[in-house]
Amino acid sequence: GRDEHRSLRMDKPLPDSLLDRGAQGVIGQPIDRVEGPLKVSGRATYAAEYPAERLSYGVLVRAPFGSGKITDVVADEAKALPGVIDVITDYPSFIRNPQQGGEKKAPTQGVEKVDYHGEIVAIVVAETFEAARDAAARVKVAYEPAEGAFVFAEHRDEADRPPPDQIPPKSSQGDVNAAMASAAYTVDQTYTTPSQNSAAMEPHASIAEWKDGKLTLHGSYQMVASDQMQLAQALGVKNDQVRIISRYVGGGFGSKLGIAPESVAAAIAAKRLDRPVKVAMARQQVFDATVRRSNTEQRIRLAADHDGKLTAIAHETLASNLPGEDYFEPAGIGTHFAYAAENRLTDHKLVRLNWLLSGSMRAPGEAVGMLALEAAMDELAEVIGIDPIELRRRNEPEQDPEKKVPFSSRQLVPCLDRGAEAFGWSARKKTAGDRRGEWLHGMGVAAAVRSNMLQKSSASVELTKDGRAIVSTDMTDIGTGTYTILAQIAAETLGLPLDRVIVHLGDGEAPPAAGSGGSWGAGSSGSSVYVACEALREKLAQAMGVDPDELTLKDGRVIAENRAVEITELVGDGMKVVGTIQPGHQEKLVRQASYGAHFAEVKVNAVTGEVRVVRMLGVFEAGRILNRKTARSQCLGGMTFGIGAALSEELVHDRRNGKVVNRDLAEYHVPVNADIPQLEVEFIDGRDHHANPIHAKGIGELGISGAGAAIANAIYNATGVRVRDYPITLDKLL
Ligand code: MOS
Repeated sequence: GRDEHRSLRMDKPLPDSLLDRGAQGVIGQPIDRVEGPLKVSGRATYAAEYPAERLSYGVLVRAPFGSGKITDVVADEAKALPGVIDVITDYPSFIRNPQQGGEKKAPTQGVEKVDYHGEIVAIVVAETFEAARDAAARVKVAYEPAEGAFVFAEHRDEADRPPPDQIPPKSSQGDVNAAMASAAYTVDQTYTTPSQNSAAMEPHASIAEWKDGKLTLHGSYQMVASDQMQLAQALGVKNDQVRIISRYVGGGFGSKLGIAPESVAAAIAAKRLDRPVKVAMARQQVFDATVRRSNTEQRIRLAADHDGKLTAIAHETLASNLPGEDYFEPAGIGTHFAYAAENRLTDHKLVRLNWLLSGSMRAPGEAVGMLALEAAMDELAEVIGIDPIELRRRNEPEQDPEKKVPFSSRQLVPCLDRGAEAFGWSARKKTAGDRRGEWLHGMGVAAAVRSNMLQKSSASVELTKDGRAIVSTDMTDIGTGTYTILAQIAAETLGLPLDRVIVHLGDGEAPPAAGSGGSWGAGSSGSSVYVACEALREKLAQAMGVDPDELTLKDGRVIAENRAVEITELVGDGMKVVGTIQPGHQEKLVRQASYGAHFAEVKVNAVTGEVRVVRMLGVFEAGRILNRKTARSQCLGGMTFGIGAALSEELVHDRRNGKVVNRDLAEYHVPVNADIPQLEVEFIDGRDHHANPIHAKGIGELGISGAGAAIANAIYNATGVRVRDYPITLDKLL
């Protein structure tokens, strides 16, 4: 239409940024969340909360067995209950797959083959939720069981290497075996991590409504544009027949990157019944039938010379997934560039299990990979007899050790140094035995690395004739602060007070963004808003008859050449630009990542083995910090999940059928307030000119990377016991 478009591709570094020249001074400020009042007063509408006329309620029916063929779904008793409208059994079986971009086979009508316990096989729809739930419990699924793979240890030797997709499973350089054989010091250890659940506070929920052949679905999703495509594919309709709206999302942590079964169920039922249907998953259903992080078995080999310089790093991972699914937990992803070493190997293989689909969760790769690598680095420091920070300093690479390209920006050593000073690292005892009463005290350190990615993203920004800016994109705010930082970027670049910027998110009819995932959300969507605002500044300059570089935009006024006019005098009936950012050559010419250092002090009860975290500090560098409050909160959340990974989070699978045994938040232990001590976060100021025009790198998943390893290393420092099987529960310490 008449909208103007402006696009920028990151083919070269961009040292100049309007954000450094803005006169508003709101970038970086710890601004409260702009949507905060709506959330705390209950006026922010989440997916399950939209009203709809003639709304009916769907409840999912799960397979009560781990592997086999369904022979019959008996629903007579369920259908006879008052209020029950229908029981839908021809539900497409492939919807377990699009979750994480997995197997792309055509949908079948009705589930026949079941691959994991709890797989969705039918939907009950009723006039009330209670009737639907009651009926769902009375649906009988008859089946012929088949042999299944339910125990990791029994099938680990049959692991296969998945085909290379976006992340190659294997890379190698030099000769690790030779380096290990001739090294002065070596570590060769295996670390294991269990299946985990994202544990977002808001369970998955969808309300579906069809009108004139078009579906509108209120859902709780992280990546609206790609979720619309997945849903269209699952339903066998065209992409433009599906509109997803996710204005507020109560956490996703990976579990809402792709569509989950409830969206397909709601859409199918709503079409069949010709009325709106809501399907809200119960917590147990989220655990059973959305997605898990795979368990891992990681062998780390490190070789070092007499000076403590690494000569080899090998990181070989076994993860698990369903037969036919190729997503693997990329545990070695940070190992490619964390430290220098001539001889290098990373490898990933999959053990095929009849366990729930595995997929992305909270820093896929680094979150569990650094639990292994950073514990092994701690072990190597001890073998060599040097301080663990010194070991990392000696192995700081000058460039990417595999790709041989420069780092876009890298301040790992400054993070370690700053943290050591602020945390009081010099007081750390070199060996275990700092006993105070019943408690053994210890300190640990670990590095954090997280790849930085830019993804194609668009946003429209409209300057209205009454002098406001309206930002519109299908980008989501999953609790991260997107509403606020996008408002800050528009306010800064357009010279508007923050309360004159309105941000609309999460509507699939708005310009498509990359969504919230992979820590790319702020950099990508923020840059699309920036690109649009830069174009709007040029239009204002043109209206003023001056060069854009001569403009100062402040407090709603446009100032140049000793003239100052209200912005409303220049915008006419309004100005609108759709801005798009996309990745370019900078992705390949430089290595982009964010860095940090975690410091932990723990105490371990010498009698019971109970571990308490006493205090933690994380020092991070992620380029420009757009909002110190929301960025800090991201890091606090990551560190908290690091505590969970180190000490308590573990999905247990029944050895007989793979069923998730501990499938609620009472039995799957994420840290609660009482588990969290004093957590401190510091930022080292940075700018990354290679990342994007706003010079910000990813921060969402940086805080979890390495956090659990710092705790594991502190436990070793306290007790002299090295537990390599996470979580480090008290039974493993005694
Ligand atoms: Mo993240 S696991 O990419 O939501």
